[in-house]
Amino acid sequence: MAKLVLEKVAKSFGLVNVLPGVDLDIEDGEFVVFVGPSGCGKSTLLRLIAGLEDVSSGDILIDGDSVTHVPAADRGVAMVFQSYALYPHMTVRQNLSFGLENIRMQRPEIERRVGEAARLLQIEQLLERRPKELSGGQRQRVAIGRAITRDPKIFLFDEPLSNLDAELRVLMRIEITRLHERLGNTMIYVTHDQIEAMTMADKIVVLRGGVIEQVGAPLELYNQPRNAFVAGFIGSPRMNFVEGTIGEVSGETFTFTSPDLPAMTLPRRTASLAAGQKVSVGVRPEDLIVSKGKGSGWPVTVSVAEQHGANSYIHCSRPNGEPLLIHQPGQSAVERGDILNVSPVPARWHLFDASGLRIEIEPGQEMAPPILHTAIQ
Ligand SMILES: Nc1ncnc2c1ncn2[C@@H]1O[C@H](COP(=O)(O)OP(=O)(O)O)[C@@H](O)[C@H]1O
Ligand SMILES: [Mg+2]
Repeated sequence: MAKLVLEKVAKSFGLVNVLPGVDLDIEDGEFVVFVGPSGCGKSTLLRLIAGLEDVSSGDILIDGDSVTHVPAADRGVAMVFQSYALYPHMTVRQNLSFGLENIRMQRPEIERRVGEAARLLQIEQLLERRPKELSGGQRQRVAIGRAITRDPKIFLFDEPLSNLDAELRVLMRIEITRLHERLGNTMIYVTHDQIEAMTMADKIVVLRGGVIEQVGAPLELYNQPRNAFVAGFIGSPRMNFVEGTIGEVSGETFTFTSPDLPAMTLPRRTASLAAGQKVSVGVRPEDLIVSKGKGSGWPVTVSVAEQHGANSYIHCSRPNGEPLLIHQPGQSAVERGDILNVSPVPARWHLFDASGLRIEIEPGQEMAPPILHTAIQ
């Protein structure tokens, strides 16, 4: 069991208040991903949990017991760093066993643990090599192995795959997910990689400026972002935002206008709309209905049509020059300079008020499931 609770955990470095006060519950066995822009405090929060840094105030509890003043080595927490932090002069075996020797663990138990970690990570054949004789992926495996040998209650990963090339990242991502399934430990994983966050997490924590913006399952955040920041941060490529004003509001519909675009009538899915209100419509690149030429939607001009083979990313500009991105499955026949007519897929758009907060949708009018182009029956 390892349930982690953060109660008003705050951290300042001198006058700089990096974390004003984080409240968070992480359940036993959960895989939680911290995401957020660079400098938002992800590593600091992880280091506070690990005990590598002291909190300025607040409490950290593991299984109900405060560990806030317990030394790092006694917290039952192991951290894996982006930089691997292996000892260059030691072999892999020595790197794996060093920490255990330090706490005077019995030799047979050390050997058992090192053997098990090596087997789990398939690095048995590398045990006598030194770090410089390993590839980046193998080094990161050793770093993870070192955490495993400590048999921690909680694993902490700080951007562990950032130094690996794209192909290896995909493999390691799957391996870490499998490792979590096998070990069942609580794991906290920091990344700025969208795909890692979406695919690995049971629960994503979105941070901005040391403050938690939203906590939820990946698709919950994707489909119901609480504000424009989360909406823009989760999902890659990012959501399009069109700023404008609410025009006429009737029972079933409202009109939305933006200075450079024709008014669009959209179904009204919320009670709290007022004529003249400043809002922005958020619509993901894959949630746009597109036709060639002029129509009743928004006119945009293609600036770049990126053909990835299986997907097309059509970079467009609005009449005012602002970008609008369309994502379509498959290959696209559009070319630079083409005029397209776009409108949001019904019930696949979001509305944010002037302060960026999501305007809540009435029950029964929630976000529709995305269009499944190749639905599995
Ligand atoms: N030891 C330190 N002394 C002073 N400022 C620090 C220290 N560690 C981190 N910071 C500052 O705290 C903020 C958060 O840093 P960090 O937790 O590393 O962000 P992230 O991991 O999200 O990129 C940054 O502004 C950083 O400069
Ligand atoms: Mg960091």
